[in-house]
Amino acid sequence: MIETITELDALRARVNGWKREGLRVGFVPTMGNLHAGHYSLVMLARQYADRVVSSVFVNPTQFGPNEDFTRYPRTPEADTTGLEGAGCDALWLPTVESMYPFGVDLAASINVPGISEVLEGAHRPGHFDGVCTVVTRLFNQVQPDVAAFGKKDFQQLAVIRQMVTDLAFPIEILGGGIVRESDGLAMSSRNQYLGADERPAAAEIRRTLLAMRDGIVAGRSRGTVEAEASRRLTEAGFAVDYAVVRRPDLGQPDEGEAGAKVALIAAKLGKTRLIDNLEW
Ligand code: PAJ
Repeated sequence: MIETITELDALRARVNGWKREGLRVGFVPTMGNLHAGHYSLVMLARQYADRVVSSVFVNPTQFGPNEDFTRYPRTPEADTTGLEGAGCDALWLPTVESMYPFGVDLAASINVPGISEVLEGAHRPGHFDGVCTVVTRLFNQVQPDVAAFGKKDFQQLAVIRQMVTDLAFPIEILGGGIVRESDGLAMSSRNQYLGADERPAAAEIRRTLLAMRDGIVAGRSRGTVEAEASRRLTEAGFAVDYAVVRRPDLGQPDEGEAGAKVALIAAKLGKTRLIDNLEW
C-alpha cells in the first residue's frame, strides 16, 4: 500500500526508518496529473533504490504571471492509484505554506546561472529559479539517495544536474526516456488543453524533430535546418518559440561539428505551449 504523507515530521520519520534499515531511497518530484511518463520515472527510480517517494506539488514559483498555475490540472485520486500501481511507497504532499514558510516573496531562491537563461529560461523568465528553489526544498525534505527526472524537460534535467554538482547535493540524478503517445506526441499534463481540432497537428513537433536530425546528419547547415523547422511548424499552425539544434550542454555547435546533438522545440498551438526534444 502507498502511504500518503502531508507532514514533514512524518516524512522524515519514514525516510529515516528506511535508512536505518540500510535501504536506498529514490525520489520522483512531480506536479501531479500523472501519466505514463511520470510512472516510468517511478519504475526507473525503483531500479536504483529500495523505496521510492514521489511528491505532488504544483509549485507557484515556477509559473510566470500569465501562465497556467491556477488552472493546472489537479487529479489527486487518480495520481495516488497510479503511483501505487507503479510501485511508489510514499506520496509526499506538501502545502504551499509548508514549502514556503516565509511566503513566496521572502523565499530563499536558487539561481543556476548560464544554463537557466537560454531557451526555456529566455521565454519563461525566472522559471528555472522556481524549479531549483522547489527542488532544493524537496531534496532537503525527502533526503533521497537518488532522484529521477524526465528527458522530456531536457533543459530542466541539465539545470538540475548542474545545481546538484555545484551545491554538492549527495544525490545521484537519473534521466528517464521520453514516453510518447502512439502518434509521437510526448506525454504531458498540458496535452489535455489541446482541442480535438488541434490534437492531430500536435504530432508535427515529433516529425519536425526527426526531420531536423536527418537534415543535420545529411550535412545541411544548422541555420537552414532550424529555419525549415520553424517554417514547417508555423505552416502546421504553431506559434514557434524556438526550434534549434544544440550541443547536450545547450551550447551552439560550430558548423559541421561532430559529436552528440539535441534538437529542441517549444511552440504554442492555440493557448497550449508544448515542448519536446530529440537527442542523437
Ligand atoms: P512535471 O511536469 O509534473 O514533471 C515531473 C517529471 O516528469 C519531470 O522530471 C518531467 O521531465 C517528467 N516527465 C513529464 N512528461 C514526461 C514524458 N512524456 N516522458 C518522460 N518524463 C516525463 O517537471 C516538473 O513537474 C516540475 O518542474 C518539478 C521538477 C516537479 C518541480 O516542480
